[in-house]
Amino acid sequence: GLKVINTIAALKSLLEPIKLVQQKIALVPTMGALHKGHVSLIKIAQQHADVVVCSIFVNPTQFTDPKDLEKYPRPLEHDMKMLQEAGCNVVFMPSVTEMYPEPEEWHIDLGPAEFLLEGEFRKGHYQGVTQIVKKLFDAVSPDVAFFGQKDFQQVLMIKNMVACFNMPIQIVSCPIIREDDGLAMSSRNIHLSVADRENALILSRALAYVKDNFANQTIPMLLEAAKKLINETPGVELDYFTIANGETLLPEEDKDHHDIVALVAAKVGETRLIDNMILN
Ligand code: PAJ
Repeated sequence: GLKVINTIAALKSLLEPIKLVQQKIALVPTMGALHKGHVSLIKIAQQHADVVVCSIFVNPTQFTDPKDLEKYPRPLEHDMKMLQEAGCNVVFMPSVTEMYPEPEEWHIDLGPAEFLLEGEFRKGHYQGVTQIVKKLFDAVSPDVAFFGQKDFQQVLMIKNMVACFNMPIQIVSCPIIREDDGLAMSSRNIHLSVADRENALILSRALAYVKDNFANQTIPMLLEAAKKLINETPGVELDYFTIANGETLLPEEDKDHHDIVALVAAKVGETRLIDNMILN
């Protein structure tokens, strides 16, 4: 059955005997409001480890908009049911004071990509993300941790942190799970009105357009077409659409580079959505 743990001390004493017999521990960090994207991470984790720990913690330090934090969904019963059905072994649900007994000011050097894209629109966001993920890594000491490619820049920042501290933790990036019509699953999708929900499709469609035409158009042509598609859609306000180097996140000019990704962020109605596709 699913074990529910609320303190770091209880978590450590639960996991200690598992480590002593050399069983592998996986961590899937989440903020709850679980959907099929989160479940896919748990399923992949089960293939890599003996024990899967999922954390649910709405981390205040990564929210740059207090209203976004306030309205973040917290459907506890639904989440427990999803975790049970997924066959997750342990859920770690600490309180805010458990994770942050005192205010903390430290920063991690995440490299220049921290300040691009999401980092530009949400100042300090990745300091908050890496702060909580480091604390979760310290609490669980997993062998391997699973993140969604949905948050492409987040995976990169976490890999940079792991490298910076030499943490003995493998980071696995998992494919984006989409609705049947292409919309990337997100806990924020429940805020979309019926009209927003339809308009939001332009994000995955613009990405798919770029991917489909990558071989036969120049990068400037692809960018212009994708931005036009999005700007023509009512109720959608583009923050950025970029074709970037997957490691530096800087605009890519060389189509022959081996690691290129298209990334988009836009407000659809009142809801800010992000999505991306790897192009080669
Ligand atoms: P959250 O938004 O709850 O996402 C938890 C994990 O699920 C992340 O790794 C995210 O990339 C992944 N995920 C979300 N939607 C997905 C989808 N459609 N397909 C595949 N994976 C998806 O990301 C966070 O929480 C937080 O920043 C966290 C890492 C937990 C730190 O607080």
